[in-house]
Amino acid sequence: MAVRIENETFYLETENTLYQMKADCRGVLKHLWYGAKTRQDMEYLLDYPDVAFSGNPYDAGEDRTYSLDTMPLEYAAEGVGDYRISAVSVCHENGSCVLDLRYESCRIVPGKYSIPGLPAVYAGENEAQTLEITLRDAVSGVCVILKYGVLPEYDVITRSAVIVNGGKQPVTVNRAHSLCLDIPYGQWEWIHFHGRHLQERVPERRPLLHGIQQSSSGRGTSSHQQNPTVLLCRKGCTETDGACIGAALVYSGCFQTQIEYDQLNQTRLVMGIHPELFCWELAPGESFYAPEVILSLSDTGFETLSHRFHRIIRERVCRGKHKLAERPILINNWEATYFDFNEDKLLKIAEGAAGLGVDMLVMDDGWFGRRNHDDVSLGDWNVNAAKLPNGLGRLVERVNAMGMDFGIWFEPEMISEDSELYRTHPEWALRIPERNPVRGRHQLVLDITRPDVRDYLVGAVSRILQSANIAYVKWDFNRSASDWYSALLSAERQREMPHRFVLGLYDMLERLTQAFPNVLFEGCCGGGGRFDAGILYYCPQIWCSDDTDAYERTHIQYGTSFFYPVSSVGSHVSAVPNHQTGRSIPIRGRGVTAMAGSFGYELDVNRLTEEEKEEVRAQIRAFKEFGPLIHNGKYFRLSNPFEENVAAWAYVSEDGRQVLVQGMIFHAEPNMLRSPLCLRGLEPGKRYRSREDGAVYTGRALMDAGILLPKAWGDYVPVECYMEAVEE
Ligand code: GLA
Repeated sequence: MAVRIENETFYLETENTLYQMKADCRGVLKHLWYGAKTRQDMEYLLDYPDVAFSGNPYDAGEDRTYSLDTMPLEYAAEGVGDYRISAVSVCHENGSCVLDLRYESCRIVPGKYSIPGLPAVYAGENEAQTLEITLRDAVSGVCVILKYGVLPEYDVITRSAVIVNGGKQPVTVNRAHSLCLDIPYGQWEWIHFHGRHLQERVPERRPLLHGIQQSSSGRGTSSHQQNPTVLLCRKGCTETDGACIGAALVYSGCFQTQIEYDQLNQTRLVMGIHPELFCWELAPGESFYAPEVILSLSDTGFETLSHRFHRIIRERVCRGKHKLAERPILINNWEATYFDFNEDKLLKIAEGAAGLGVDMLVMDDGWFGRRNHDDVSLGDWNVNAAKLPNGLGRLVERVNAMGMDFGIWFEPEMISEDSELYRTHPEWALRIPERNPVRGRHQLVLDITRPDVRDYLVGAVSRILQSANIAYVKWDFNRSASDWYSALLSAERQREMPHRFVLGLYDMLERLTQAFPNVLFEGCCGGGGRFDAGILYYCPQIWCSDDTDAYERTHIQYGTSFFYPVSSVGSHVSAVPNHQTGRSIPIRGRGVTAMAGSFGYELDVNRLTEEEKEEVRAQIRAFKEFGPLIHNGKYFRLSNPFEENVAAWAYVSEDGRQVLVQGMIFHAEPNMLRSPLCLRGLEPGKRYRSREDGAVYTGRALMDAGILLPKAWGDYVPVECYMEAVEE
């Protein structure tokens, strides 16, 4: 049983972890433990002194040691004497903001709960159990239903909360976090993933300081600047050693992660929708659903945690026929042509690529309206006849005749002021009355909280998808959102806009992915500005970054790999000098780096030399052979490219018999020692043969002593080594 209740104590057990909480004699739900599995009731740890200025609930009587301000709570509410960050804030008709949440009931349900309108982990009835705990504020009748999805075999617990107005008066929810996790013991550090456009998900590790630390996005997307994932780890925790907790929010909009290190050196982590860009009016009988957080804990370092997140996201967040299937090797024309293309140019690229073994041509931005520049035509999803005089259908037929599939780019949530759509429906753009809107890349954002706007967009995208044999959609979003106002909402509800926007996005993605189950959807937001588990529920891959420089990509993909599986990372070989940095990396190094993802090309193959074309053929053969190992195997970070002169990673098959090591030595040095690189995840007693030179090594030697890296002659030397266990 994944969920057990003994003496009012709740035990949530996965294969290696235990999550424990207890409703005490006053009905306060205390958090007791999230850690290694033990049959111990962990309440003995709670031993609190009388802390002055930490007040006591009235019903604690004369017990001055009983304070909500000091004890670990399962879901902390505002207004009841807990002065730490709270998970929930609800304001009542009389203006007061308080919820005194006490235990009311619980329910264990087979399988994993789902959340209306929101993406969430899904699981079979035998794979998961759901625990629902209802807490109630007796005066107002407002309830919070805490939901726990326990997936023992995945070593994952999911959390979510539903705020139910069970009272007679309307209330306003000002904060409804998905996760509140109190850790009363130990000293922790935190790692968050920051960045900017072209440089996403840089891990930053910091000790917790007293007070509040935060990472967040207010951009309407999960953002390039901060990712909705966080790691808490014990000091000294490494890839392979030490305790750490990971949390990933399954959400694509404004979010907030806050960690408070309190007066008693206790840690509280909250995560959810950004409360500064949120409120929700709840009439009697209505419910608000917070998005989900995926939680996992490891006492063997980050690697174990990453393996768990990769597996749950790939197998139980991603959906549809493509989630585990081999992904097509695609060629995208964006960096080859930008807006300057026509049917002839595309067909030439396709022809060249088909000859090299590429599976699919993706026609990027510029095929619709009068889109010859980025200041026009977003919203007008009609084929540009000047560029494609024979229509989309004919183009796709000709690409298909070359043995290739065809994919297409959209940016549905946007509108150009210079567009037919804007001339007809200026009121569809997000804009605050009597004020000028903020422009981003010259464009405005559509009010997709409106059903009529969503219907228009779903209709427009569907018409194009029905008009030709389209196998793939790249769904882009090229600015941060702003000007939150919708004519359809009352003044009190305007702050609901950022969340309603995300619900609108999910509604469109759900309708389209259900209507076109064969189409592979790839998410995108100026590269990786909306790289989150929410998008991965609809799109099993996301364009990881607009930075296609292979050296940079080793860093971006390193940061991305802490939570997200390799198959979710869209990654392409592009031309040199690179368009973002001017750097020139030989094509083998570019290939090895791009293979750490859902692989493709983004250049005009006709401009390659014969030698480079031969290398592309070899890369495609390699990805066809190793793609299943790369996507299904376990991923190991073997170096930290931010600190070392080498980026190296490996994929090991589930049975431990195959290993592929890839990477790049950044800079050559004279008199350089060939430093060994230790592998992980192999069978120590097995012997492995290197395909390159036939040499045989024991697993123990490969893991304890390592393989020798190649001699670097010149910069950006690729590392490639494939080994298989020898039949004994
Ligand atoms: C974004 C994407 C790019 C490309 C352009 C087109 O920046 O990330 O890959 O599609 O838009 O405008």
